[in-house]
Amino acid sequence: MTINRVWACYFSPTGNSRKIGLKIAGEVSTILNSEFSNIDFTRPENRSEIAHFSEDDLVIMVLPTYAGRIPNKILPWVQEGFKAEGAMAVAVATYGNRSVDSALGEIKQVMTENGFKVIAGAAIVSEHAFSSQLAGGRPDADDMAALENFAKDIVSVIDREEPVDLGEREEVAPYYVPKKVDGTPAKFLKAKPVTDATLCTKCGVCSKACPMGSIDGEEPAVVEGICIKCQGCIHACPAGAKSFDDPDFLSHRQMLIENFTRRAENQFYI
Ligand SMILES: Cc1cc2nc3c(=O)[nH]c(=O)nc-3n(C[C@H](O)[C@H](O)[C@H](O)COP(=O)(O)O)c2cc1C
Repeated sequence: MTINRVWACYFSPTGNSRKIGLKIAGEVSTILNSEFSNIDFTRPENRSEIAHFSEDDLVIMVLPTYAGRIPNKILPWVQEGFKAEGAMAVAVATYGNRSVDSALGEIKQVMTENGFKVIAGAAIVSEHAFSSQLAGGRPDADDMAALENFAKDIVSVIDREEPVDLGEREEVAPYYVPKKVDGTPAKFLKAKPVTDATLCTKCGVCSKACPMGSIDGEEPAVVEGICIKCQGCIHACPAGAKSFDDPDFLSHRQMLIENFTRRAENQFYI
């Protein structure tokens, strides 16, 4: 099997899935001496053109885990935007130290439905968008070294007949229900970021960072439309003017910090 081009495809509001996708795809293309391209579908304007892949393409599809699954507002585009006739793919889910749950299995499932043969998979720990106390600084040097080994392993299975077996991660379970510190469900679906008017310079960076295009470019305090809680605006704001003050959101974040600060493990499937 000759691979002419390796693709890093990712949705990445806070940058970890991007970093991991570029690393894996870059390493694989170096080993194979093939071309390298990327498709970043974080921004809404980059979710309009359907990409078609042929047998000499290898797609590394990287998505963050949100509530144990593919981010639900992005799922339709993952289903629509990537089509293959026999092209191969690697499924990668990033997750912020709690659990990858069903996100990896769901990526494999959707890519298979899109016509790809999924030859490998990985769940990679990366800093939680909600708090740097959860997997802070990851992927770190050890993770990046592990990704280099994973790239070598991907190359070793490029001629495989059967898709990769994800074991118990094959199952796609319902979305994880976030909990508050007291163990009851945290209800913050309608929460939106608030803007500190004394800090905001109206530079518009947050508006450009929003994957849903929901933040007004001229009046960044105005958030119309959907907020998926990705924290992209908060991470992007150079003035530190954005935050969440929703009590259920804050309680959920605190629950995560109280229960999920151990060093979680990457999981590789070959
Ligand atoms: C709305 C939301 C839900 C999340 N749900 C989970 C989860 O269920 N399990 C987990 O371990 N991490 C979870 N995370 C953490 C992300 O998977 C992690 O921060 C990921 O690295 C973000 O990817 P990005 O940097 O490419 O945006 C969640 C993050 C967000 C923003």
